[in-house]
Amino acid sequence: MPLPRRVPRSRGLRRRGAGAAPALAVAGVLLAGLAACAPAVEPAPPAVSELPAPVIPSPSSTPSPTPTPSPSPSFDRSALSIDDPASLWVVSNKRRPLQPTDFVPPDLVPVPVAYTNAPSLRREAADAAVAVVQAARDEAGLELLSLSAYRSYGVQVSVYNGVVAQQGQQAADLVSARPGHSEHQTGLAIDFGSQPQVCSLQPCFGETPHGQWLASNAHRFGFVLRYPDGATPVTGFSYEPWHFRYVGLELAAEMRATGVATLEEFFGLPAAPDYG
Ligand code: DAL
Ligand code: ZN
Repeated sequence: MPLPRRVPRSRGLRRRGAGAAPALAVAGVLLAGLAACAPAVEPAPPAVSELPAPVIPSPSSTPSPTPTPSPSPSFDRSALSIDDPASLWVVSNKRRPLQPTDFVPPDLVPVPVAYTNAPSLRREAADAAVAVVQAARDEAGLELLSLSAYRSYGVQVSVYNGVVAQQGQQAADLVSARPGHSEHQTGLAIDFGSQPQVCSLQPCFGETPHGQWLASNAHRFGFVLRYPDGATPVTGFSYEPWHFRYVGLELAAEMRATGVATLEEFFGLPAAPDYG
């Protein structure tokens, strides 16, 4: 397994379909905003030699390929809290701020994968993210990297304000969560990119082999694609084929099996198209 390392910026890919150009522009600005603000708000990444050795996930966190799951009649949708910000099932959206809004996850650890901004996640999500990267490499010969993972409340202030400054608030609110509302603050969300970078943080990432592999396989490791195409009226955010949210193996499998695309719909929560 290669050592984690910083990697260069993104290249684009031609996007098929209507509406691509505005979406690309918005996401491109988001990428620029993230890149621009990252050095000021995120600690400089350590030298490669200072990074922890890559984690070899335990068998329990490295599921082998499984058949398409089937719905479980005994699945308990109230097994974990959807309100507690420390719960693996917490649902954070425009109508559901994290409480407290300055929540800091309890068990953040570095994620030993390639990155553009040194990533940390909650321990269980970090192990799963490493397993995703390893499986993409082993099973499909695809190299992934982390573009962004845990972001504190303060970092989200900088990210959001940067996007608002460039795009205006209405456009920003489709691509960047207001502080206290971002899944990245839970330590359970990660933005993946490809190596070499193609369509980073752009809708066309979903058309790359990397994006397609993630969409088909991330659930095997406990992740769900949190902002699916066409779900903006429910999630409040544009299609983000790079943003994966760790919810654990059972819930990810159940959502896959039932074909329910969003956490809001799965848990019977109101749609969150705006901040109300
Ligand atoms: N881009 C997602 C919505 C966030 O800012 O958390
Ligand atoms: Zn994200």
